[in-house]
Amino acid sequence: MSQARVPVGVLASGSGTNLQALLDAAATDDFPARIVVVGSDRPGALALQRAEGMGVPTFTVRRKGHASREDFDAAVAHQLLAHGVRWVCLAGYMRIVGPTFLDAFEGRVLNIHPSLLPAFPGLDAQRQAFEHGVKVAGCTVHLVDAGTDTGPIVAQEAVPVLDGDDAEALRLRILAAEHRIYPRALAWAVADKLRIEGRKVRIDEEGR
Ligand code: GAR
Repeated sequence: MSQARVPVGVLASGSGTNLQALLDAAATDDFPARIVVVGSDRPGALALQRAEGMGVPTFTVRRKGHASREDFDAAVAHQLLAHGVRWVCLAGYMRIVGPTFLDAFEGRVLNIHPSLLPAFPGLDAQRQAFEHGVKVAGCTVHLVDAGTDTGPIVAQEAVPVLDGDDAEALRLRILAAEHRIYPRALAWAVADKLRIEGRKVRIDEEGR
């Protein structure tokens, strides 16, 4: 590969299957990013074990140990910056990141959400969609802004809701789509292919 890979940090609270998809993509020859550190707010999160299993450094910062969300965000940002992180991927990170954090990365923060935003923001989106009776569900990668799941949309994939599905079957179908779109969106982001025009993100395949 002709250019240095861009250092990326991933934050995850849970099982880390999206983290795994990013790690697997980053292990391929032509992927433009490398995952340099994985952080969590939950000690012992399976996501941390996945990272350690692949030799990626990890850290845990607990919300409890900090007086305010700003202090907590600053501590997480400090850890990421100490590892030279340029872009951050939230991958099942169950915390809202505040302005302190977003300022530290100047908009270079991506999130994956398990619905076709702007439908069903917030927690348990797959179940919200299932219970609403939608016929098409899906997932979204977006740039993170100050709102909850409101930032400009980088990538989406739709999946059908099938007769006979339960909420778990739908969750798994969405999750498989998440694993496809997140590495692709990260590759565009680090290769500087995102052109943000208001709410719209255009993918410039030429790059800068
Ligand atoms: C994923 O479905 C992700 O989209 C969701 O949490 C799950 C984490 O799974 N994130 C959110 O709901 C954020 N609002 P994973 O730990 O196996 O990647």
